[in-house]
Amino acid sequence: MAMETILVIIGTAVFVLVLLRVLRKSTSLPAPAYIGRLLDSGFRHFFQPPRTVVERSGVASGMTVMELGCGSGAYTTYIARAIGEEGKLFAVDIQSAMLRQLERKLSREENKDIKNIELRETNAYELPFADESFDLAYMVTVLMEIPDKGRSLREVKRVLKPGGILAVTEFFPDPDYPCRSTVIKLGMRAGFALDESEGNFWNYTVRFRKPLSDQQKD
Ligand SMILES: C[S@@+](CC[C@H](N)C(=O)[O-])C[C@H]1O[C@@H](n2cnc3c(N)ncnc32)[C@H](O)[C@@H]1O
Repeated sequence: MAMETILVIIGTAVFVLVLLRVLRKSTSLPAPAYIGRLLDSGFRHFFQPPRTVVERSGVASGMTVMELGCGSGAYTTYIARAIGEEGKLFAVDIQSAMLRQLERKLSREENKDIKNIELRETNAYELPFADESFDLAYMVTVLMEIPDKGRSLREVKRVLKPGGILAVTEFFPDPDYPCRSTVIKLGMRAGFALDESEGNFWNYTVRFRKPLSDQQKD
């Protein structure tokens, strides 16, 4: 391929990324459901591998887990298998069209072994779960789509058990991508203690813990 062609491709990709970021900054709408196929594609998994998301999120066998903003389920089945039959995963999203895509994915032959997922259509501000229900809550490229991030994080904290984990994963090509320091600030402001931060600028996970008591923040 000629050098000019390569430069045009790179230039176009950079332009589209910048344009999308500018457009997303002026709106707070959820990612449209028609990108569900792209989100759950081999192309995306090549750059943001499910194994990495599972490893960094602090998943363990038997956990009760909530995925906030599951979308079309790009990572849902991997987490469901990692927690095993003893575990339970509630996949939550505000858009029924996203949940329908996940439902279709779960009905495929290769996913028939998964029996520990329940779907819930709901807003991050009012999660339909009792206080202290979950060992782990995780979000992959979701947090910055939510207009009132503090309110949603406090709601996640409510449904986590004391000592429970919140894992926030971000990916640079996402037009809503935030710097790691922004995520850390938001989590700590909502009353979480920072546990671990892994990965690089391109693809990272910040893990927080809900303090054991209101006094304990670290
Ligand atoms: C960029 S997609 C990511 C989906 C999935 N986590 C992934 O990584 O493929 C963000 C998802 O968050 C959901 N979402 C956005 N705002 C939400 C809110 N306030 N409450 C619940 N889900 C929300 C969107 O509907 C969308 O499915």
